[in-house]
Amino acid sequence: MHANVTSGAVLGVEACRIEVEVDLSPGMMVFSTVGLPASAVCEARTRVKSALVNCGYGFPRSRVTVNLAPAHIRKEGTGFDLPMALGILVAEKKLPAEALEGAVVTGELALDGRVRGVRGVLALAAHARRMGVPRLIVPRANATEASVVEGIEVVGVDHLAECVELLLGHLDVPPLPVAAEPTVDEGAIDLRDVRGQAVARRALEIAAAGGHNLLFLGSPGAGKTMLARRLPTIVPPMAFEERLETSIVASVAGLLPADRPLVMERPFRAPHHSVSGVALTGGGPAARPGEVSLAHHGVLFLDELPEFRRDALESLRQPLEDGHVVIARAQATLTYPSRFMLVAAMNPCPCGYLGHPRRSCSCHPQAVHAYRNRISGPLLDRIDLQVPVDPVDPRALRGGPAEEASAAVRGRVEAARQRQAERLSGTGARCNAHLRPADLKRHCALAPEADAFLTRAMERLDLSARAHDRILKVARTIADLDGRDALRTADVAEAVQYRQLDRRLG
Ligand SMILES: Nc1ncnc2c1ncn2[C@@H]1O[C@H](COP(=O)(O)OP(=O)(O)OP(=O)(O)O)[C@@H](O)[C@H]1O
Ligand SMILES: [Mg+2]
Ligand SMILES: [Zn+2]
Repeated sequence: MHANVTSGAVLGVEACRIEVEVDLSPGMMVFSTVGLPASAVCEARTRVKSALVNCGYGFPRSRVTVNLAPAHIRKEGTGFDLPMALGILVAEKKLPAEALEGAVVTGELALDGRVRGVRGVLALAAHARRMGVPRLIVPRANATEASVVEGIEVVGVDHLAECVELLLGHLDVPPLPVAAEPTVDEGAIDLRDVRGQAVARRALEIAAAGGHNLLFLGSPGAGKTMLARRLPTIVPPMAFEERLETSIVASVAGLLPADRPLVMERPFRAPHHSVSGVALTGGGPAARPGEVSLAHHGVLFLDELPEFRRDALESLRQPLEDGHVVIARAQATLTYPSRFMLVAAMNPCPCGYLGHPRRSCSCHPQAVHAYRNRISGPLLDRIDLQVPVDPVDPRALRGGPAEEASAAVRGRVEAARQRQAERLSGTGARCNAHLRPADLKRHCALAPEADAFLTRAMERLDLSARAHDRILKVARTIADLDGRDALRTADVAEAVQYRQLDRRLG
């Protein structure tokens, strides 16, 4: 006796179809699984058996073989419990096979038959929609998450017995609880709170407009952290497809809150400087997405940049460049998206007061050099805007005119992004920071005067070829903020100004 239930596995952020084939044959009572199950799948046998027995269905008194096909895909996680249990019931003729036609099933079973939530259901739902699968049976804990994807019927179940009754038609499909319209937390923090700091605010605006990476360099208390945290408040909200992509990463990481099925706000990830390279870029035994992927379409904030482990910082180079992370595994290669804006903050020297207007630095020049060198040239090259932040005059902290609010800045950023979207449509890039070299020439052409200026600056500051391209992209964004197509010398000059660290290090 044979049964077939469709389920799915999530590799990276892509789901693929897995057939759970159940075969009952006369012989000794053995329950075996084949098809390369990871240890979690082996443990599934225990859970499936207990759940079936404890729900009163009993366990077949014969040889039970479960094959997870295709065999070459490594299966991880606990989502095959429910399809295995249902498959056994179908093979025993306790459930008609037609009941499961056109459905994809996932869910972990507790020993008493309760159905527990699993990771990656959103990716599975997106896959099901692409494949034209009409129905998805998932743990109730994941139902709201799955229902974000339109065009498929989502059935959420709490218990194996409930699932069986539903499939037998003895129960009505309970309507999904309507997901509360997620509210965007507006106004909690705002650029209005930052007094003065015209240069840093300008850099923040350019970064937001062109998707550029940004580094603030300044003394303790200068306001670097305060400024960085306000970047998300001036970036336009995510489009639906961006929200879906970001939510799928969170779903795969098991971080999607059950009551907030769709991530509405751009992520802001601020890992501590003790973070490991694996935690930053992803991978490890469980192959989870790292911070760079959890920050997809949002901001990755590295405060106290030189305190991060060297290897962790170096591991950022590839995801920064490619916009995705590739993790090689024994069985498969996983890809996680990692299109984020890097924002970093650091002191100018170990004591923190080098260049401070009112305090003096106590560091040996060699110590300063060693401190700065913790950030490698190739990583610095990838940071388009390197901006010194001087502490604001104490008098300016009180009184004075009101500062501009985030909403006003966001308006200009949105207009600049609109210009980029039109210009870049069809190139795969959405903003200037992601311009490909071929498109760079076309969209960042310089008049002779600006060209000569850049050549001189390159020579004088000994800038790398990568820095050259980044300067052009930043100049492009500056012109876009100004609503212009042609680049001017002043745009290039301002962009060169933002390469403070390259020049100070020489
Ligand atoms: N321009 C400013 N306007 C208003 N408040 C400011 C400004 N600069 C600093 N502050 C105040 O000083 C506090 C310290 O700023 P913040 O933590 O951002 O400094 P930092 O540069 O990150 O320092 P550290 O190097 O010690 O991390 C802020 O929480 C804020 O209250
Ligand atoms: Mg700080
Ligand atoms: Zn110092």
